[in-house]
Amino acid sequence: MTSLSSEVSQSAEIVVHRLLSDFKDQFGSADGALVARAPGRVNLIGDHTDYNDGFVLPITIDHDVYAVVRARADDGVRLYSVNYEDAVFYPLEDRPHVTRGSWASYVTGAIEELRRRGFVSGGFDMMIYGNVPLGAGLSSSAALEVAVVFGLSAALEFDIDPIDAIRLCQTVEHWYAGVQCGIMDQFASRLGRRGHALFLDCRTLDHEHVPLPLFQSGLALVIADSRVTRELANSKYSERRDECDAIVAVANQSDGDVMALRDLTPAVLGRLGDALTETLRNRARHVIEENQRVKSARDALKASDFEAFGTLMNESHESLRDLYEVSAPELDLLVATAQNISGVHGARMTGGGFGGCTVNLVEQAAVSELKQTLRNSYADEYGREPRVYVLKQNHQTELLYADE
Ligand code: GLA
Repeated sequence: MTSLSSEVSQSAEIVVHRLLSDFKDQFGSADGALVARAPGRVNLIGDHTDYNDGFVLPITIDHDVYAVVRARADDGVRLYSVNYEDAVFYPLEDRPHVTRGSWASYVTGAIEELRRRGFVSGGFDMMIYGNVPLGAGLSSSAALEVAVVFGLSAALEFDIDPIDAIRLCQTVEHWYAGVQCGIMDQFASRLGRRGHALFLDCRTLDHEHVPLPLFQSGLALVIADSRVTRELANSKYSERRDECDAIVAVANQSDGDVMALRDLTPAVLGRLGDALTETLRNRARHVIEENQRVKSARDALKASDFEAFGTLMNESHESLRDLYEVSAPELDLLVATAQNISGVHGARMTGGGFGGCTVNLVEQAAVSELKQTLRNSYADEYGREPRVYVLKQNHQTELLYADE
């Protein structure tokens, strides 16, 4: 077996080996197949800012989606999901009807968008396997979209600009899954880099890879999954987007130059006075201040000032809880518990909210105590444990294997 990246760990080699063997079982042989991998992400700071043209600072994680792909000589698209033990076969021109939000909707959606843009014109066999926790706010769907597009570009040998690929993946989320997400998740999965966090300006898409060598710095990111998935999350997310649009419309009546909440300053917000309800003023304040925090967090990271970074994380949580109102009691408990432990620099909810995960920046020496305390406090209150992941290294989208 030829590994393409010297940094790919031994455990990844084992996964690749197994995947090739599964691919062989599924499609007869693994000759000519390649394995691509795209990671999920956790957002360190900057939530509900991406769709307001603001700033975000996510980092990829070490849980991924793998796409094993091989071109075919005909126009057959043959897809298989290892996780769901489910297959979909169809002629490229004839995308079948699949359930919205199912694994097949993301995969066939990405294929369809690539076909429409002229990137894909022939058939292929593709097997998908993922270990990003589902519904936890760690961007399993973005990783899936990115793995499919990246894997296909390698197997079918077409060049797609990474930014075009990211936008295409976001389109898949909007049209085929019905989720009106911003651009952070797909961007992080596609262009996040090993050993770095990703600072992204969601308006210009200018970005910067900020070093965060967790393991070497004696740090870990601890991700605590509340295992709460609220039915309401999607509709509440749209509600927040509508609220932001409403603020922009009001601001424009007096100021004219507000394209997005990104353009709102505290001074303009102050001048708007009673034109906004208290709730809308709070939403705006969150976005304005969170954007500032993301920039300060980037600077703190560059200066290796993890204490300052952690304080910004804590402030971000407070703002998401009290001003933007997207937290949940379960998340608040996990955050408050973590913030009381020495060696924890900062803790906050991460992602869309209403459930999902918290993220904690922690000294490695404090990891065991944090894990145990989170489990105990949560179990005492809710009668079940959170899922806790410790991240000491992160991944990036890459090809792991190609059969020559
Ligand atoms: C979800 C969306 C992202 C972003 C976050 C909140 O993860 O997919 O685009 O809006 O919520 O920061």
